[in-house]
Amino acid sequence: MLEIKNLNLKYGRIQVIWDLTMSIYNNEAVGIFGPNGAGKTTLISSIVGLIKPETGELIFEGNSLIGFKTHEIIRKGISLVPQERELFPFMTVEENLKLGAAYVPNARNRISENLDFVFEIFPILKERIHQLAGTMSGGQQRMLAIGRALMANPKLLILDEPSLGLQPSLVIELFQKLVEIKKSGVSIMLAEQNVKQGLKVIDRGYVLENGKIVMEDVVQNLANSPHIQKSYLGV
Ligand SMILES: Nc1ncnc2c1ncn2[C@@H]1O[C@H](COP(=O)(O)OP(=O)(O)OP(=O)(O)O)[C@@H](O)[C@H]1O
Ligand SMILES: [Mg+2]
Repeated sequence: MLEIKNLNLKYGRIQVIWDLTMSIYNNEAVGIFGPNGAGKTTLISSIVGLIKPETGELIFEGNSLIGFKTHEIIRKGISLVPQERELFPFMTVEENLKLGAAYVPNARNRISENLDFVFEIFPILKERIHQLAGTMSGGQQRMLAIGRALMANPKLLILDEPSLGLQPSLVIELFQKLVEIKKSGVSIMLAEQNVKQGLKVIDRGYVLENGKIVMEDVVQNLANSPHIQKSYLGV
């Protein structure tokens, strides 16, 4: 569904992504693993129209994404849970969720179905529906951010380091939810430094280091690779 070909991204004169080629197929969960500063957020920013590529192609369902604005890209079926989560703290859970559908005509027509779907995955959000987002725990806010992205009815859900700052037990719980979301038919792109937990979600993954893909494989082979074990799993 998403094909990235020979992508080069720069901030000014500094190149951050080098000749990157990758793809995500329908009903697939794909990991982008890499350390601090590898370029994960930069790559994601280009997919959702926040950074214009120097060269290369970004193709979603057969059509180029380049030149489209972020809200237009969301409308095509790509939804992002950003690294900086940007919830509206003084709005309720329900209001935050409904805003997730705001830019997407298809989703605006399906608000109650999509709310039901989000509440099925995250029952706590239903219990807290009238609570102000800013007064919820870190884990609950993370769930709300994902729920809000799901309200846009995405075909592809991109998550930028969803584990960041969460205690390990919450990461495990949250990543199980990602598996449920994938089973519902939403493809997932998961950018993570937490490779150990990320491997429990993905079907296939890429390792991004210094802006270059250094490894690409199905989950089993990644888990067994000496490089992954040594550099990311501390084995
Ligand atoms: N707005 C910017 N202007 C200039 N350089 C930037 C900008 N944002 C990021 N960079 C640089 O680009 C490189 C890649 O950063 P990026 O945020 O994409 O990495 P990341 O893999 O998401 O890291 P992290 O895991 O810490 O979020 C880094 O060297 C970073 O310093
Ligand atoms: Mg990042």
